Amino acid sequence: DWTPNAFVEETVEELKEKLGNDKVVLGLSGGVDSSVAAMLLHKAIGKNLYCIFVNNGLLRKNEFEDVLHQYEGMGLNVKGVDASARFLDALAGKGDPEEKRKTIGRVFIEVFDDEAHRIKDVKWLAQGTIYPDVIESVSATGGPSATIKSHHNVGGLPDFMKLKVVEPLKTLFKDEVRRVGASMNMDSQLLGRHPFPGPGLAIRILGDLTREKVRILQEVDAIFINNLRSWNLYDKVWQAGAMLLPVNSVGVMGDERTYEKCVALRAVESTDGMTADWVNLPYEFLQRTSNEIINKVKGVNRVVYDISSKPPATIEWE
Ligand code: XMP
Repeated sequence: DWTPNAFVEETVEELKEKLGNDKVVLGLSGGVDSSVAAMLLHKAIGKNLYCIFVNNGLLRKNEFEDVLHQYEGMGLNVKGVDASARFLDALAGKGDPEEKRKTIGRVFIEVFDDEAHRIKDVKWLAQGTIYPDVIESVSATGGPSATIKSHHNVGGLPDFMKLKVVEPLKTLFKDEVRRVGASMNMDSQLLGRHPFPGPGLAIRILGDLTREKVRILQEVDAIFINNLRSWNLYDKVWQAGAMLLPVNSVGVMGDERTYEKCVALRAVESTDGMTADWVNLPYEFLQRTSNEIINKVKGVNRVVYDISSKPPATIEWE
């Protein structure tokens, strides 16, 4: 019978044997898979695991700082690299979804390759690939591994891609990954996190991106997610987030007409992201969340709730 404890014990032994004194580099995304993979490797090889956590400037509000602290608290040998400006500059003027994805993938590879080169004699690249990623080419889990996979056939391989690959979660499903993490006493909030796409908020800002739009969406998203948590709805939802629409609409504030942004909230139930149903969130929750967003986030005067299921609507809008 499969148990998380036995899996941890066996995997740590196997990793010790396989890796010996070798150095390993791993890209942390803040997501469940890369975090659990890192913890297993940390148990096996300690400081020889070099984790890199890249801020692409498209993460949720305060996410980079909070998660980096959390990783440090777990004892991981982690380096946070704030490459926000590099990503946002590269994205300037780009509105097409695939172009945005490609740009983010390319910059990520450049940043990661630079960092990997700083580690002397690194031998292995670790990835948080899980079993469904092995079968599908597109990862629903987001993160560096997904980004790398969809771009490694473009041009010559960056040097870190020539490293030997170690993927300790390759045989596991998502729920098993969570159980493995729990058996290593990892934080339940970290293990229960919703999936978040590798390109982050870039594909939730429809059309072209500016720093101001990123800021607006981070504020809106933080209100929505915090409210889901305080209403005990977060764990009942598979994934949630907000989309910043490329339309302005007319509103009224005092005696003034406003002409400001519209955001769409989306929350879905799913098991693997392949199909999804919109979640019937309580009206009172939607009402309060909408009021809070409009009152607090300057530049937004309208909130709508997405009631489309997948198929045919995808989870993300881009
Ligand atoms: P869709 O929008 O295709 O999303 O219904 C299904 C799942 O995949 C995530 N997603 C991505 N993850 N890079 C990623 O790492 C991407 O480009 C990407 N696009 C969508 C999405 O958040 C959902 O969990």
